[in-house]
Formats: sequence, C-alpha cells, structure tokens
Amino acid sequence: MNRGVWAAPGRVNIIGEHTDYNGGYALPIALPQVVTCRARAGSDGLVRVTSRQHPDEQVAQDISTLADAEVAGWARYPLGVVHEYVRRGHRIPGVVLDLDGSVPVGAGLSSSAAVECSVAVALRDLFELPVSDDDLIDIGRAAENDYVGAATGTLDQSASVLCRAGHALFLDFHTGERAQVPFDLAAAGLELLVIDTNTPHQLADGGYARRRQECERAAAALGVASLREIADVADTERIDDPVVRRRARHIVTENARVLDVVARLREGRDPRAIGPVLTAGHASLRDDFEISTPQLDTAVDTALAAGAYGARMVGGGFGGSIIALTDADRTESIAAAVADRFGERGFDAPRTFVAVPSAGARRVPDAD
Ligand code: GLA
Repeated sequence: MNRGVWAAPGRVNIIGEHTDYNGGYALPIALPQVVTCRARAGSDGLVRVTSRQHPDEQVAQDISTLADAEVAGWARYPLGVVHEYVRRGHRIPGVVLDLDGSVPVGAGLSSSAAVECSVAVALRDLFELPVSDDDLIDIGRAAENDYVGAATGTLDQSASVLCRAGHALFLDFHTGERAQVPFDLAAAGLELLVIDTNTPHQLADGGYARRRQECERAAAALGVASLREIADVADTERIDDPVVRRRARHIVTENARVLDVVARLREGRDPRAIGPVLTAGHASLRDDFEISTPQLDTAVDTALAAGAYGARMVGGGFGGSIIALTDADRTESIAAAVADRFGERGFDAPRTFVAVPSAGARRVPDAD
C-alpha cells in the first residue's frame, strides 16, 4: 500500500476524569467527529504535513532530525508521532500527511489525540509496521508527553483507538483491562448533549501538570504507588496538606463513580440512574480538584435546572465542554437555556451537539 485515508475520533468521557495517570478507571465514548489523515508514502527522507484547517502553513522536516525540529503549534503533533515511530526503530523512508478535522479544538474533546491516532494508524498500515493497538496508544501518548510537552495520561488515545460504535469503553489503567459496555441511550429515549463553552483550554499550561504533581504528592503521603490503591475515601484524611487532600478525595471518589456507572449500565438499568453520579462528578471536579470555570459551572447548573438528569464538565478542565444527560425531547430546550444564560452573563455563545458513541481509529474510503 502506498497511500490511503485514515480517521481517528475525538472522545467524550462519560465519567472518570484525571484518573488515568493515577492508575484508576474511566469510561469514555468516541465521538462521530474525527480527524482524517490522508497519507502517501515517500522516499525523500522528509515528512511533509498540511492541514485543511491551516491552509497557509506547510511543514517539511527531515525525518532524521525530527528530534531537533523547532516546529510549534498544530504540526508538532503529527511530527511527534513520526518521531516516536523512528525513535522506536521503525523505518519511515518519507511520508506526506494531509490532515482534516471536525473535532473542536481546545474543547476538552481530544482533538490532539485524534490527530495523533489518525497519523499513528496511517503510518502503521502504510508501512506495514508490526505495531499493536497498545503500541498505537503509547506512540500517541509519547508524542504528546515527550514531543509536545503535555504531561497527559492515556485516556484520550485509548478512547480514540479502542472505542466501538454503540458502546462506552471501560478502562482500568492499572491492570490494562478494557471492556466494551453497551451504551444505547436512544433506546431509552435519551441523548447526551455536549455543550462546548467556547473557552479553549491548553493542556500544556501549568494547571494540568500541577494537578498531576499534587496527585503524586498525595500518593507519597499515603505510602502507595498510585491513588488507585486507596479505595476508602476516609484514608485521604491522613494527608496533612488540605489542597493535596482534596485532590486525593476527587480521585478516590471518581474511581468509585466509574465503577458505579459501569455496574448500573451492565445491569441494564435505566441510564437515567447514572445522571446524579455524573453531577456528583462535576461537584468533585469543581470543589475538590478545582479545575472548573464559571462558564462550565453555569452550563452545568443551567442544564440541570432545565431538566437534565445529570451534567458535568469533561476533559482536562480549565475550560472546554460539559455533557448533559437528557430526554431526547428536551435537548433543544436545554441547549437554548444554556445559550440564554451565557448571553445574560456576557459569556461567548456556547456550541452544542449530540454525542453518539462511535467507532475508533480506522481506515476509511477515499472520498476524493
Ligand atoms: C486530558 C488528558 C487525559 C486525561 C483527561 C482528564 O484529556 O489528555 O490524559 O487526564 O485530561 O481525565
């Protein structure tokens, strides 16, 4: 094969935020919105990258010197993936990558993982490289951690590679267990409304990394390798520093919420029952993890007041999106109520769409 088109989705996390780098649990779905990577094998030793979203910027880099490339911005993500393949000893003789995407950027919906995973899966298939799905996830993570410099976990790449249509993906970041959990909201007359508050976040900024360090301090204070080992929230009371104690309390209670939601869905219970668990997750991210914003809180409170069964902020925090679980016939009125409230408060207008659990990274037919 010397050319093709591959797609990888963004994700929205149903529950389990900031648990990935703490060896905990999460339950994402893949979005219908994807990044596509049109890829062609070359032989000139260069990686050439273009993006339909950045038509004026074309990047060409020598593959043998990618480690020193001074490229910043969107192109650093695809270059990071190529670099990581090479660093692992795979031979890439040259490649042309043309990216196009519909995943909102900076919205907490993993547009960067969608870029990484679309490129990673394209390179694997194009050059027939002996790379497993787990390798793809780790290549994306390494590109993000080591090349871009954002100290994230593997939630986003795991979701982008492994999710299946009609299912949520249960992830255990300690044991590596994964399970597809049927997630059919439509059958229950429900929808999952995503409200992008239009306040972009940056994971390479300090807040995310500080939370990660605080979690490490919490684990050290409790004498465990990761907070995953703490099942009883009362144990967190042993942490002296009140900030670090709150961070730990979020992780311990969030892990319990993931298990609670998964158990309810597996039992085939009415998905409305997970609503209050989602809302409790928001309170924990707001009060204990302290990564919410006035826009996120306003969106959650307004969605609940307008009849949502549950609502919470999603993703890394400090901006981005919320999800609201609602009867399908209330979706529009909830979106309108949030837009009105944002107008009253002088916030930028939010953007909304309904999230349907979709497929993970894959080769797609060439439309051109
Ligand atoms: C970002 C990171 C993930 C994860 C989430 C929070 O999306 O990339 O690794 O930590 O935040 O759950």
